[in-house]
Amino acid sequence: MIYFENNTFYLQTEKTSYIMKLLSNGVLSHCYYGKKIPVEDISFYNFLGFRSFGPKTVIDGKEASVESLLHECSTFGRGVYRTPTVEVIGKEGTQVNDLFYSSHRIISGKPKLTDMPSLDAEVDGVQTLEVVLRDIRNEYEVTVFYSVFEQENIISRRHTVKNISEYDLRIEKAFSATLHFEHRDFDVITLPGSWARERQLERFALPHGKFVIDSCRGASSHQYNPFVALTSKNTDEHNGDAYGFSLIYSGNFQISAEADHFDVLQLQIGINPDTFSWNLKSGESFDTPEAIMTYSADGLNGMSQNLHNVCRNHLGKCANKQLKHPIVINCWEAMYFSLDEEKFLDFIESCSGMGIDTVVMDDGWFGQRYEDNSSLGDWFINREKFPNGFDRIIEACHKNGMKFGLWFEPEMICRKSRLYEMHPDWCIHNSSFEPLESRNQLTLDFSRREVIDNIYEQMHKILESNDISYIKWDMNRHIADAGSLSLDKASQGEFYHRYILGVYQLISRLTQSHPDIFFEGCSGGGGRFDFGILYYMPQIWTSDNSDAIDRLKIQYGTSLVYPCSSMTAHVSACPNHQTGRTTPFMTRGDVAQVCSFGYELNVKFLSDDEKQEIRAQISKHRELEALINQGDFYRLRSPFEGNNCSWQIVSADKSKSYVMFAFAVSHANPKPLHLKLCGLSENALYRVEQLDITVSGATLMNAGIPIYPPLQDYATLTFDINIV
Ligand code: GLA
Repeated sequence: MIYFENNTFYLQTEKTSYIMKLLSNGVLSHCYYGKKIPVEDISFYNFLGFRSFGPKTVIDGKEASVESLLHECSTFGRGVYRTPTVEVIGKEGTQVNDLFYSSHRIISGKPKLTDMPSLDAEVDGVQTLEVVLRDIRNEYEVTVFYSVFEQENIISRRHTVKNISEYDLRIEKAFSATLHFEHRDFDVITLPGSWARERQLERFALPHGKFVIDSCRGASSHQYNPFVALTSKNTDEHNGDAYGFSLIYSGNFQISAEADHFDVLQLQIGINPDTFSWNLKSGESFDTPEAIMTYSADGLNGMSQNLHNVCRNHLGKCANKQLKHPIVINCWEAMYFSLDEEKFLDFIESCSGMGIDTVVMDDGWFGQRYEDNSSLGDWFINREKFPNGFDRIIEACHKNGMKFGLWFEPEMICRKSRLYEMHPDWCIHNSSFEPLESRNQLTLDFSRREVIDNIYEQMHKILESNDISYIKWDMNRHIADAGSLSLDKASQGEFYHRYILGVYQLISRLTQSHPDIFFEGCSGGGGRFDFGILYYMPQIWTSDNSDAIDRLKIQYGTSLVYPCSSMTAHVSACPNHQTGRTTPFMTRGDVAQVCSFGYELNVKFLSDDEKQEIRAQISKHRELEALINQGDFYRLRSPFEGNNCSWQIVSADKSKSYVMFAFAVSHANPKPLHLKLCGLSENALYRVEQLDITVSGATLMNAGIPIYPPLQDYATLTFDINIV
């Protein structure tokens, strides 16, 4: 997997190569990343040379402009005019510095990253290259870690900055990865969005200058997902070069693509430097989060499958092959804040016999929470609403063969709460301003240990004394007034990163002390949908928008990076609460079916036919479960490009497949079309039940199956394809 020959590092996965050259002046310079090439001398492959107006250096006896070197880890001020990978202010107070090779080692597996989620350390089929670079003044070292996941075609990357001097240093920038291409003939794909319309796919040509997406909201955010793809101009879902970059981090991130006057492109990904600085005392180290890079020659589907596979094989809880995603019914849209014991018992009764695994009680069960203006931080049961605590509720769940789940929003505090009365200084605030509320709530200062301890104890008490099998962990505002009373003046720049480390710490403690509880992430829907959260919580509520038609785009966009099993998707009531649209019950089920499935409605108000549909949808989901959790996902038709959307899952052994085709608005005199399938075995024969045909994989993939658009808005078709 990793080779070092002729001063060149070769990182080889099954289908990709990542190559770097150790130059004679001690610079670690990028050569190539893309489709696999053999381990052989590629010293001819570089554009070292002259750049007007730039300082020069000497490499192998020849002069070259510093700018023409493609630093794997760059600094500022010594002739590289691109944004530096690390910026450390030392004794002399200057940002000017330079990094040179000191040593390297190649190890099997990968060193564990403490305090932060990362791809698993103890795994076969993984090797790590560590290159230590030392700065020109001998003040600090940067260790660059490259872990090669051979089978998944993933290379992960991160840095450790260590103060090797006797005085204090300050880190101003520490990206997780810097990568170069010698051209900018790429399209960029990002996933911008907002609340209730997360991860909408956007594609555009890469301009000169610097293109940036980021978050400074304290969470990875609805607005931009920590992901970017670079593709060739002609890349589509099935063919062409597709590079994907993501970050295992839930806080403020930045991804930039910067093209210079020679069209050299630098891509960077990591903690957002605009909201970050870190003091590093003598002997201390700072770890950046881990970045993930992948390349596929098989278009965007190939890129996505690599990302899905590394998540399902190597990312914390997501990698647990025994894990079962429960089918839940959540009460939020069924009763909002108006829940109490009698209503909830009734709710449980109505779900009986449907096949549901878990009944989840959402917001409104604690403190004095009657609407959204109080009690966050008071994690004790509201005895006016639940005079018997949860005893009768849990008993009723068990009696009906179901389990009980509960909603928390651990990072928040309301002014109207006991916690606020006791600790008004625990919210994030700044002594000069009145803290700004959002949804009538403030954010707790999770950079403080005593705050985390308090919330841990409150949650632990509830979990210890009640049989709870599922937690929905919400976060319903972004941070303002950033800063912490616990940090001195010079350390305020550490706040955002310390906040997210505090969140990870609380989640780790709870998941460790309650290993059997299934945790689901949420942040006003999909506002913190990232690999950092997925490490602990194997699924995330994809969006507060549960409308089946809007969900086509949200789920399609999300699938670019994250596996289906990580997306929670529920069938909800109609007219839909977010869009007012009425869609067929079947469509709602078909769109949600390939994700982690459930319901967001009151069964009591459904017709007998609809109840029957629930039973059928659930039994279908059980049949598809293994396929959803382990199969390869293909996007077939994009809702961003037309009036319809289609996706397909194929089992790893290619024996089983499931296709969903959805239409938005219907048109008169519709044209039929052929839908070409993917991923099947060319020579095998497959039975397509719904069409009553048995044909070869080659025919299904090249001629396709006929689709006749129905004369009805919002209809879906599904196909089960099984090898005979
Ligand atoms: C957020 C979640 C919803 C629901 C509400 C409760 O918006 O995304 O699903 O839990 O909070 O307040």
